[in-house]
Amino acid sequence: MKPLKRIFVVGGELTTFIGKGHPDFVWKKHPDFGKRENPTLEQYLTQAINGALEKTGVDAEAIDRGFVGNFAGELFNSQGHLGAMAVRANEKLVGKPFTRLEGACASGGLAILSAMDALHAGSDVVMAVGAEVQTTVSAREGAGYLARASHWEEERSIDEFTFPAMFARRAKHYKEAFGVTDEDIAHVTVKAYENANKNPKAHMCKVSWDLESASKPGDRNPAFLGNEDLKPHLKVSDCSQVSDGGAAVILATEEGLKKLGKKPEDCIEVLAYSQATSPLGQVKDYTVLDNTKMAADQVYADAGITPEQVQVAEVHDCFAVTELLMYEALGFAEKGRGAELARAGETSLTGKIPVNTGGGLLAFGHPVGATGVKQLLEIYRQMKGQCGDYQLAERPEIGLTANMGGDDRTTVCIALKDVR
Ligand code: ACO
Repeated sequence: MKPLKRIFVVGGELTTFIGKGHPDFVWKKHPDFGKRENPTLEQYLTQAINGALEKTGVDAEAIDRGFVGNFAGELFNSQGHLGAMAVRANEKLVGKPFTRLEGACASGGLAILSAMDALHAGSDVVMAVGAEVQTTVSAREGAGYLARASHWEEERSIDEFTFPAMFARRAKHYKEAFGVTDEDIAHVTVKAYENANKNPKAHMCKVSWDLESASKPGDRNPAFLGNEDLKPHLKVSDCSQVSDGGAAVILATEEGLKKLGKKPEDCIEVLAYSQATSPLGQVKDYTVLDNTKMAADQVYADAGITPEQVQVAEVHDCFAVTELLMYEALGFAEKGRGAELARAGETSLTGKIPVNTGGGLLAFGHPVGATGVKQLLEIYRQMKGQCGDYQLAERPEIGLTANMGGDDRTTVCIALKDVR
């Protein structure tokens, strides 16, 4: 969709993403164990919402509506009804319409889409917030919760780690079809951790992988699937993180900017946005993200841009192989040639199309409902020169996000342009 009126991203805030491997995350061997607890879902929502208001200097009173992205609060946190939970963050939000959106790992992207639809429908200033807390249970139990984003009856039995197994299946088919190796895929992991090591907000800000260790199973890098056929195709280093965190952005129309006393140049602009949805459990070809391609083709057509014009992208790397498939679905590489792009360093901070500059889902982390919101904010931060040690040498002018739910069943793409 090409916006019917101009839509601006005013800015926002994200919390630090934490979980196992992050120095602040309390677990049983942490020195703070028993002395303090990790933040709750409500605390992440509150931090993100008030952080976004503070960072942008927007008074909560000016927010017309709000949309909350969260996948599985009922399962991980015994908490639903998150619109009403979000307005606890700030008394000036009380009474305002806040609504929760769910589309698996694309929940954050859907919150942004709904915010933009609300701007079309007459609102002037809208907030999109996303949050997830997943570390309340073990990775294995959490995998069962995340499996609710698959077709439970048909797909749950693939493995107790359902999503890791589904993407191991994609890795298997992709490697067999195009002669791609585990080392090719490991380039994505190494880049993600290198970027995250420059990013103080990243879950994996202090953990690194070298190419050799990320290329093969080992003590630190178990191939952990129970499904014997798929087990050789996925290791811990291929996986995104079980993270907790939140992110919020504020979007506005031109009228909204006037109310906020802001200029377009303070913002970035939405060129176009799209959503594609495909039937659960019916992947036709494991070597392509065809749902994402539909969303991407639409967003390029509506934005009037080509993949070659994109100068920075945030793509959904839920597993390392997914990032390669994303390069192809988004037109950065031809079919079967995504690995060459990664191998040549073209998607690194100094490459021709930097992807996931803050570490992506693999190493920045993946607090599911927050991810789509964080992606938009990352493009904003790169365009406005706010990325610190991972800031690109030249501030990008055109950017793209691709936020995916399930096994490529829901995808949200947003094309963005800096206003200078
Ligand atoms: N040797 C052999 N096996 C091992 C070893 C070892 N040294 N260490 C662990 N394992 C096995 C065990 O079977 C273990 O499970 P168990 O403890 O229940 O028996 C399993 O590996 C996982 O190990 P954990 O220590 O629990 O793993 P950790 O907490 O470090 O998590 C993991 C790693 C499993 C990769 C986790 O980060 C994960 O699940 N990531 C993916 C999250 C996900 O699927 N998100 C949704 C994406 S889908 C989308 O976005 C569209």
